[in-house]
Amino acid sequence: MPMNTLSRKPVLLWRSLAGVILVTLVVSCSGLIHSPAGTVDDVEYARRLWLVLEQQHMVGKQATALEPFIGAARPHGWVLEVDSRTVRVGNHSGFVVVKKNYRGNNISVADVESDRAKYLESISVMYKRESGYDPENLNWFWAQFQPDGQLVVMRRMGMKVMMAGRVMKGATPDKNRGCIYCHSSAGGGDYIFYPDITVP
Ligand code: HEC
Repeated sequence: MPMNTLSRKPVLLWRSLAGVILVTLVVSCSGLIHSPAGTVDDVEYARRLWLVLEQQHMVGKQATALEPFIGAARPHGWVLEVDSRTVRVGNHSGFVVVKKNYRGNNISVADVESDRAKYLESISVMYKRESGYDPENLNWFWAQFQPDGQLVVMRRMGMKVMMAGRVMKGATPDKNRGCIYCHSSAGGGDYIFYPDITVP
């Protein structure tokens, strides 16, 4: 009896090892096909971008107060603030659009002005990266941050995906978060909805 269990062990070990390899392969392949977002590089780039935005006082505790307004479109919440300019990340200069999404029950512009930190739910950012980054989608880098600069995490096919990088050319199951999917339909073909924002 003990002999038997012993000799079976290596087989079990190999089986579970093969299982791990298979799962890893499937996960990384489906990642490549369906969600080339939230990679290690994307997360690192988002971190650097956030630091630049902080230095620019566009986000974070020292952020300059903007003019909030009521925004109607899903998925971006009700009261919004939008800001844009050209910023440098490393050796690259690119145009950035930052959108702050404030949420709350019957939230008004006055509520936000009185206590931004209380209502700030998330910050949506699109940043024009170097050519070749994502030529099919005008090289926009997408990121959804929490107010403290951590990335928002979404679930996709049972996996957790950090919302940074080429975030979804397809609709997500809740059809809400595929930045590229939605923004590719913006008028003017520049992926930007607000007509008063023009990429230099
Ligand atoms: C379901 C459609 C949809 C999805 C998905 C979506 N957006 Fe938007 N986005 C909009 C619309 C519509 C506007 C303009 C109106 C508004 O925000 O209410 C907008 C505005 C913006 C703006 C301001 C610049 C502009 O386009 O006018 C930024 C930045 C932005 N979104 C980033 C993101 C990021 C980052 C993601 C993914 C995490 C994302 N969006 C996902 C529809 C979408």
